[in-house]
Amino acid sequence: MHLSLLFLSLGALVKCADGSDWCYHGCEHTPKKWADIPDASCGEKRQSPINIVTGDVKTDHHLLNFTFVNFSSQHAIKSVINNGHTVKCILEADEVEVSGGGLNGTYSTLQFHFHWGSTEYHPGSEHMIDGHRYPMEMHIVSVKKGLSVQDATKDSEGIAALGFFINATDDGDMSGPWGELTSYLTNITGTEVDMNHTISIDDLIGNVNLTKFYRYMGSLTTPMCNEAVVWTLFQEPININKKLVQRFPMTTGLADVYRPQQPLNGRHVFASPATPLPPSHSWCYEEEPCEYKPAHWLNLPHSKCGGERQSPINIETRDTVSDVRLDAFNFTKFDDKHAIMHITNTGHSVKCVLKEDMVEVSGGGLGYVYSTLQFHFHWGSDESDGSEHKVDSKRYPMEMHIVNKRKDLTLEEALETPNGLAVLGFLIEAKNAQSSSSGHRETHPTSDMGAWEKLTSYISAIHNIGSEVNVTDAISIDDLLGDVNRAQYYRYNGSLTTPSCHEAVVWTVFKESVKFDQNLMTMFPAHAGYRNVYRPTQSLHNRRIYSTKSASSAPVAITLLLLLACLCAFSYNLHL
Ligand SMILES: *[C@@H]1O[C@H](CO)[C@@H](O)[C@H](O)[C@H]1NC(C)=O
Ligand SMILES: *[C@@H]1O[C@H](CO)[C@@H](O)[C@H](O)[C@H]1NC(C)=O
Ligand SMILES: *[C@@H]1O[C@H](CO)[C@@H](O)[C@H](O)[C@H]1NC(C)=O
Ligand SMILES: *[C@@H]1O[C@H](CO)[C@@H](O)[C@H](O)[C@H]1NC(C)=O
Ligand SMILES: *[C@@H]1O[C@H](CO)[C@@H](O)[C@H](O)[C@H]1NC(C)=O
Ligand SMILES: *[C@@H]1O[C@H](CO)[C@@H](O)[C@H](O)[C@H]1NC(C)=O
Ligand SMILES: *[C@@H]1O[C@H](CO)[C@@H](O)[C@H](O)[C@H]1NC(C)=O
Ligand SMILES: *[C@@H]1O[C@H](CO)[C@@H](O)[C@H](O)[C@H]1NC(C)=O
Ligand SMILES: *[C@@H]1O[C@H](CO)[C@@H](O)[C@H](O)[C@H]1NC(C)=O
Ligand SMILES: *[C@@H]1O[C@H](CO)[C@@H](O)[C@H](O)[C@H]1NC(C)=O
Ligand SMILES: [Zn+2]
Ligand SMILES: [Zn+2]
Repeated sequence: MHLSLLFLSLGALVKCADGSDWCYHGCEHTPKKWADIPDASCGEKRQSPINIVTGDVKTDHHLLNFTFVNFSSQHAIKSVINNGHTVKCILEADEVEVSGGGLNGTYSTLQFHFHWGSTEYHPGSEHMIDGHRYPMEMHIVSVKKGLSVQDATKDSEGIAALGFFINATDDGDMSGPWGELTSYLTNITGTEVDMNHTISIDDLIGNVNLTKFYRYMGSLTTPMCNEAVVWTLFQEPININKKLVQRFPMTTGLADVYRPQQPLNGRHVFASPATPLPPSHSWCYEEEPCEYKPAHWLNLPHSKCGGERQSPINIETRDTVSDVRLDAFNFTKFDDKHAIMHITNTGHSVKCVLKEDMVEVSGGGLGYVYSTLQFHFHWGSDESDGSEHKVDSKRYPMEMHIVNKRKDLTLEEALETPNGLAVLGFLIEAKNAQSSSSGHRETHPTSDMGAWEKLTSYISAIHNIGSEVNVTDAISIDDLLGDVNRAQYYRYNGSLTTPSCHEAVVWTVFKESVKFDQNLMTMFPAHAGYRNVYRPTQSLHNRRIYSTKSASSAPVAITLLLLLACLCAFSYNLHL
């Protein structure tokens, strides 16, 4: 949402202090640099927009109906202006108001404006719902009655913003209110054009059910990003013809005018009582009671879990294809003893979050530099194994996943890119375990016991789901991995193993397992409070699993023979 125009009348002085040299792309102060604008709040902890995860939203019974004044008036919309960042509709002063909806008092409505994507149907809403970005978003901006605009930007609830998602439909009215509004769009910056007084705000909102909305505390989404906004996002979108949506980027020459998603930093999102919410913790593993068990994850909203390159899988070692491009990894700062920031109980796993932009992985045939975000664990119970991947149908006691994101992409982009993420999977066995039948394990690599003891000692402090504690002990990832052979591994294209199961992961599963004490393993189910947290193996479909060339692998001729045999078996199956 924008306030910049409000300051226009206050003259050049304020306009300058407003950080008017910012942009969405193609200038010095793109969104990533907004935090550097002097006196701006853009780098603080209550920023907008956000991704609303409906599974984490709680109903607030105080969020009752709104009262809108003059939203239905055809005289309320005074003029339209392209200000170089957006298209803004300016309202008649002191005529339009909003109250109720859990707002503390009455707010005077000043303007509304839009955020959109680009002409090749790239969506451009600012907020997202469960990772879904709508084509556009409309913001209706109101200031607390009795406050000047300046004072409102300093009050933590000084501004009320009403956000409406705009959805693009294949058909739909080309004239009507949206046809009328878009006829005012222009690529001429700074000229205010008077409106014809033929449409009202209600005409634009159409039949969106105004009793269904989300609420959170945030900020302006443009510099100076003041943390003064009570946000309302209506759950139902406004549906308009996609040709009208296209008019915004086409006619204005402005594309992708939205700020990327900002971190929640512990904030909560609430919903009005009428808003339908999924059951909390709507997905779970096999043992827990919930609506969406693994077999039904594919039915979750925006789920990719029914795709054809899902993880985990059973790695049938006979069918792997040796690939010389799978060279050595380059691990950066895996030896840093202060890279782990905190450890958290997510309700599905125990996760260690790393400091940002510090630890990296490259090489290993990945082709890109990846930054390491976090690692977490999958486990079984005292009686059963709980690794996600199986090797030759054998499940291991536990599995550790080190999750890395391509450094050149945002997390959101990475989730939509086939190799946006790289996950390193380490199978875990008890220190004294018998060597398995498949291995060539004369030696038994052991990890630094001290590191695992230190790490697992934190788990008792995160009993409660959602709790997190800072890791203050010196523990590096290298300490945890010990001397496990990191040159020998399997490689395949797969997915995240939890909803929404994005098919964005280049998987590495190391051949040798990490080993630590059995008693430390039992800490995971005992303290986290849940067990058997692994997804069942998924069909390979037509994927291949590659393998580093094993030092003691069979001679080439035999490998070829095996490969032929396997190809024959494959074609034989096809003819059945
Ligand atoms: C809110 O509005 C809806 C319809 O717009 C109505 O059905 C409902 O009774 C209203 N609730 C309250 C508490 O006023
Ligand atoms: C609504 O708008 C009309 C003019 O169109 C104005 O006379 C009236 O005062 C406005 N109502 C309020 C409550 O401001
Ligand atoms: C509502 O606002 C008033 C003054 O602006 C303030 O004193 C009061 O604490 C606020 N109430 C709530 C529930 O935030
Ligand atoms: C958005 O539009 C698409 C295409 O017309 C439609 O399938 C979808 O149901 C709409 N979404 C919502 C939430 O209305
Ligand atoms: C505005 O659009 C017109 C026609 O669409 C084009 O000729 C003109 O160069 C554009 N002006 C700017 C400043 O982009
Ligand atoms: C405004 O209305 C007049 C008459 O109704 C019409 O001729 C004109 O095209 C309209 N202007 C716009 C920008 O819609
Ligand atoms: C809005 O949704 C609520 C809850 O589903 C429903 O009771 C109400 O009738 C709806 N209002 C309108 C105007 O459709
Ligand atoms: C390993 O990565 C670091 C940091 O990205 C880089 O400086 C170094 O040159 C890389 N080493 C090799 C052998 O690729
Ligand atoms: C955890 O560390 C962060 C900084 O990394 C600090 O702001 C926070 O206060 C710490 N929390 C606790 C409980 O020590
Ligand atoms: C993963 O998919 C990409 C693109 O489809 C392909 O080039 C690459 O060889 C695949 N890698 C593996 C390990 O299958
Ligand atoms: Zn906005
Ligand atoms: Zn995992």
